[in-house]
Amino acid sequence: MNQIKISPSILSCDFSEIGSEIEKLNNSGADLIHIDVMDGHFVPNLTFGPPVISKIRKCSKLPFDVHLMISPVEKYIQDYANAGADIITFHPEATDNIQRTIDVIKSCGKKVGISLNPETPSTVIENYLRKIDLILIMSVNPGFAGQKFMPEVLEKVKFFRSKIKNENLNIDIEIDGGIDFKTAPLAIKAGANILVSGTTIFKGENNISENIKNLRKQ
Ligand code: DX5
Ligand code: ZN
Repeated sequence: MNQIKISPSILSCDFSEIGSEIEKLNNSGADLIHIDVMDGHFVPNLTFGPPVISKIRKCSKLPFDVHLMISPVEKYIQDYANAGADIITFHPEATDNIQRTIDVIKSCGKKVGISLNPETPSTVIENYLRKIDLILIMSVNPGFAGQKFMPEVLEKVKFFRSKIKNENLNIDIEIDGGIDFKTAPLAIKAGANILVSGTTIFKGENNISENIKNLRKQ
C-alpha cells in the first residue's frame, strides 16, 4: 500500500492567527496543506480568495492542495495558481468543459485534481483518468467543516483503487470530510492514500503533531 499522506484543512484553524497556525503545520508531519475555497454559490459558505493564499504562501513550503468549490471555476484558476497553489482540484459540476479545465490547470504548471461529491458517480471522470493527478472523494457534502462521515462513499474509493491498480495509473486518492481516528482506518483500508482533516487536526484530542500521527495509524 502507498504511504499515507495527511493534508490538514485550514478551514478549522484559528483565523485570527492564520499565519502562525500554518507555521505550526511546518514541522508537524503534515505532507500538504488543504485550502478550501468556497464562493457562497457553488457551496453555501465563503472562504479564501487569492490574496489570502498569496499571503499565507510565505508561511510554509509545504505543497498547497487547493480545493476549489467555486463556479464557474475556470476563470479563477490562473489567479489561484499565481497565488501559490501546487495542486488545483475542481468539481466537474463547476465547469461546462472538464477537458478544457484540466488543460487550463496544466497550462499553469500545476497538478490537476477532480473532486466527486457523495452523489456524483465515478463514471463522470472515467474518461479523464490518464490526464489527472488526483481524485478527491468527498465524504461529506462540501461546504462546512465538522460534518459526519458518509461511509457509502468508500465504494467509490475501492472502485478507483482497483482501477488504478489494474490500469497502472499514477493517481492519488484523497478523501475529504469527517475524517477522524475512527473513519481514517476505513478510508485507508478502502484505498485512500491522502487524508484531509480539519476538525480532528486543529480541534482534536491532542496537539497538531499527535493528531496527525494518530490519523496515519492503520
Ligand atoms: C468541506 C471541506 C473539507 C473540510 C473538512 O467542504 O472540503 O475540507 O474542511 O473538515 P472536517 O475534517 O472537519 O470534516
Ligand atoms: Zn476540502
